[in-house]
Order: sequence, then C-alpha cells, then structure tokens
Amino acid sequence: MNEILPIPERVINELRAVVGAENALIDLEDRLAYSIDGTWVERLPQVVVLPTTAAQVGTVVVIAGREGIAITPRGSSSGLSGGALPGRGGIALSMARMRRIIEISRADQVAVVEPGVITGELQRAVEAEGLFYPPDPSSLGVSAIGGNIAENAGGARCLKYGVTGDYVMALQVVLASGAIIRVGGRTVKNVTGYNLRSLFVGSEGTLGIVTEATLRLLPKPRHTLTLAAEFMEIEDAAQAVTAMLMSGVLPVAVEIMDATTLACVEDLLRMGLPLDVGALLLVSADGNHLDGVRADLALLGQVCRDQGARAVQVAATGAESDALWRARRSIAPALARRKPNKLGEDIAVPRSRIPAMVRAIRRIAAEHDLLIPIYGHAGDGNLHPNILCNKHDSEEMARVRRAAGEIFAEAVALGGTLSGEHGIGLLKKEFLEADLGATQIAVMRAVKDALDPQGILNPGKIFPTGVSDW
Ligand code: LAC
Ligand code: ZN
Repeated sequence: MNEILPIPERVINELRAVVGAENALIDLEDRLAYSIDGTWVERLPQVVVLPTTAAQVGTVVVIAGREGIAITPRGSSSGLSGGALPGRGGIALSMARMRRIIEISRADQVAVVEPGVITGELQRAVEAEGLFYPPDPSSLGVSAIGGNIAENAGGARCLKYGVTGDYVMALQVVLASGAIIRVGGRTVKNVTGYNLRSLFVGSEGTLGIVTEATLRLLPKPRHTLTLAAEFMEIEDAAQAVTAMLMSGVLPVAVEIMDATTLACVEDLLRMGLPLDVGALLLVSADGNHLDGVRADLALLGQVCRDQGARAVQVAATGAESDALWRARRSIAPALARRKPNKLGEDIAVPRSRIPAMVRAIRRIAAEHDLLIPIYGHAGDGNLHPNILCNKHDSEEMARVRRAAGEIFAEAVALGGTLSGEHGIGLLKKEFLEADLGATQIAVMRAVKDALDPQGILNPGKIFPTGVSDW
C-alpha cells in the first residue's frame, strides 16, 4: 500500500476556492463522519469535499490528479462492501449536496437526477406522477442514487424488475482527466458505440464520477399483494422458491428469512412474527387488475402449500403488507443487536441451486461454530448469509474469514457469484480471482488503466492486492 502523504495547505486552499471554505472539511470530527459506511470498516479521509456541480467535480479531480491524491466518491454511506470508504485517505467526495431531481418526464418515462438524490424520495416523486422506479435496496430510505449506480444496487423487486443498472439510460460522468462526458441517451433503443453506460454502472467510483443520471421509469402497477408462507424446514422453503419460479407466474419478489433472522426482527419490532418455524417466505405479485393479481398470488400460495408450508397468509390490507415489508427491511439493524458486528454476504447462485446453497451455508456455520442467519432475495438466488461476529475477537474473526471463503467457494462451485448487489469494494476484493479468474481481472485492469492511468479514482477497491482489509 502506498504511503499516505499529508495534503499541503495550498491544495486545501485550492479545494476551498472551488467549493467554498465551508464545503472542504479538514477537522477530525468532520472527517470521522465520512470514514464509515454500512460495514464495520473505517477509513479516514484527509479532507471531505462537497461539490454542487459537475464542473466543480471536474476541477477537484484535476487538482487531485495533479497532486496524486486519491479521490473516493460517496453517496449516503449505506454501502455494504466498503466501496465508499476512503481506502487510501485523500479526498472523500460527498455527492450529498447534488440532490436535485432535475426532471420527471411522463412522456419519455424518464427521470433526470443528480447523484445525491435519496432513492426513496425519487420513488415517491415519480409515483406522484403515476410512474414507478422499481429498484428498492433495503436502505432506500437513506441510500443515494449515485451510490446505487456505483454498486449496481438491487433489492427485493429485482426478481421481476431487474437491478439499478437496468434503469440507467444515460449518465454524465466526470473522468479522471477532469473531462465531462455523457454516455447513453434518452431513447428506448440506443446501440451507438460501446456500451460505456453499463461499464460505469457498478464500477464503484473506480472509473469515473457520476454527476447526473437519466433513469428509465415504468407505469406504476395499480395493485401489489403480498403473502407470508411459513415453513418448518428452511430446505422446504428453498424448494418452494424453485417450484414457484416454475409455476408460470413471475412474482415481484420472493424473500426468505430463516429462524434466527425472524427471532432478531421480532426482538426489534415486536410485531408477532412466527418464532417456531424454520423459515418464512414473503411473496408479492403485482399488476393492474386486482382479480388477476389475486389469482396469481393464490397460485403462488398453493405452490407453497404443496411444498409443505404450514400456513400461508395473504396480507389483508396495505398496512399489513407494509408491516411485512418493514420487517424485511429491518433485518440489518435487527441482526446488529445480536452481535456487535456482522459480515453480510451477498452471494448469488442459479435459482435451481438455492436449496444446495442453503444446505452448504448451514453446514459451514456448524463446522465453524458460527451464527450465520440466512435471509435475502431467494427468488433471485441472491442470499445474504450474515456471519455474526465481534471484530475484537481475533480467534472468532479467523473462523469468520474461513467460513466466508468457504461460502464464496461454494457459491462459485454452484455456478454462482461473489456479489449479487452489494459490490466488491474493500471487503471482497481478495476473493475476486476465485470468481473471475486472472485473465478477466487483467481485462478489467486494462480498462481501469485506460480510464484512470494515475489510479486516483477510489484506489484500493475491487482489485485483489494480496492483503485483506478486514
Ligand atoms: C438487504 C440488503 C442487505 O437485502 O441487501 O436487506
Ligand atoms: Zn439485499
């Protein structure tokens, strides 16, 4: 790792001149606020810069390039792989002040937004126009669109609607040179040139800095109904997921919560979740015709019963359905109460392999004597086995490390991947080669070198360094 040199006062003054003295922060307490994200890892920036325009971002990048200073963009710091942590010090570039919804077009069905817009706020704004922005990471109440794009965030509705990247039509990006480009466009079809838009999506701030996004919207489906299905054995629940996906109905979401997850959420919310089951499935269907949605959900419920569900309950009211989804989105804070830290994994496997993956996680948990609650987007094959731990217990952390490696290896062996929606960041970079292989990483490295020859954009992320950061 390169040594982090102090940033000279004259450079701080230059940054102040670009964004205003009050938006270039060097006090320790300010920097500490920008040293964290949704993981337990902390990395202190040397200065926090809060721009309001792409031109300001461009100037900051030029200064950083000239001085060889690392620059790490960040949205709302809810990321789960360490992507927004200033791994090599330098500048934490907060996009929080760039939070305008510039346009919502009903005719073109697009929204044009700045990167600091909060995901949930965008959803409410477009829904007020009868439109729909489907990606729904659990952190949507706080997460920023720029961070969602950087990590290609997902969520429960991805099963039917796809991930953030499926909704990115165009991006304005500040390159490492300071140049500002626009990639993609506002048309439904656009195959002109290489698909650079998709290259920037999920690149975790390592290739460029997104300063504006044009997002695809859909008409808002008029009805969404949800059921909860209780299974005594998690393996049966996993089997039911596969069966539902073969039923001819495409649910909006099929989410799984195992017994430990349910106990933790119930402990937090006291809402009457079943505590004597092996797993709960949350299943949603949507559409414009209530009778059709009801029929689809009834069919999915029947499949659950056929696969051994002890009970299937359709949420009778919107409030009941909202409560179930609130429970689902509260899992991360609920688990945090059980143990001080958690390594939240994000593996994805082909859907037919979900039962095998669940079995493997349970075996690995038992072998390493670790508590690994399983929850996640079962319908996507995207599971979040969370290894609960205490980062100060080095013996336990050694077991966590071994278990994490085995879970990754098992996911890859089953034809899956390291990350479905959280990205690689700092936490998973040392496992990358097992998933992608050396040649693919070399191609990625060539892309990185072409776009960021000095390596100033979010250095120390994604690519393996041979040194674990946790
Ligand atoms: C979730 C986050 C952890 O699914 O991705 O809740
Ligand atoms: Zn998730």
